[in-house]
Amino acid sequence: MEGVSSTAPSSSSSPPRRAGAKATHEALRHATDVCRECPIGEHATQSVIGEGSMRARLMLVGEQPGDQEDLQGHPFVGPAGRLLQRALDELGWQRERLYLTNAVKHFKFELRGKRRMHKTPGQREAEACLHWLESEVRLVRPRAFVALGATAARSLLGRPLSVMQLRGQWLDSRFGLPMLVTLHPSALLRGDPQRRESAWDAWLRDLSAASGWVEEGA
Ligand code: URA
Repeated sequence: MEGVSSTAPSSSSSPPRRAGAKATHEALRHATDVCRECPIGEHATQSVIGEGSMRARLMLVGEQPGDQEDLQGHPFVGPAGRLLQRALDELGWQRERLYLTNAVKHFKFELRGKRRMHKTPGQREAEACLHWLESEVRLVRPRAFVALGATAARSLLGRPLSVMQLRGQWLDSRFGLPMLVTLHPSALLRGDPQRRESAWDAWLRDLSAASGWVEEGA
């Protein structure tokens, strides 16, 4: 299946671009929803594509929708999303000025009893989903990325990397745009409670390196 390409003209402020972007975004939502290029979509409730400003300069990329995102159809609305929102608030980043998405558009899980437990998407699944992320990049045309965790970082970079070694650093993404590497919010949720405060401070420090992309423009 082909990715949905943006028909947006070059002016960033004209109403036609916004209208076109909205229509294309909706087409993208539908196309990802019916996508079965990998097995994950078969078991998910629906696809979850990115949301936010169609003119965002900064695109935040997570791993995949979680349980709540899958049910509600919106990215970053569950526990990890709430933690991310707290960070955005502390940083003074308005969510509406950003575009938040995921490397993989369907929720992968395994059932334990009645509970749907998150399962990390495999590399083949992330690769199969890459063209949807590319479609979002063509549509929104961000200037920089924040990669939240290893799956996002690998999709954006095109090769594996150690998030712990490279966190807080800017790398050149496969899209020719800079990407800041940091932890996924769920890593903080899972982390050692004794070190929660220092982990939080370190995460905010990482993220703050991208503040310049939020303050100007959009
Ligand atoms: N984790 C992610 O990576 N993305 C979401 O949208 C929610 C949780």
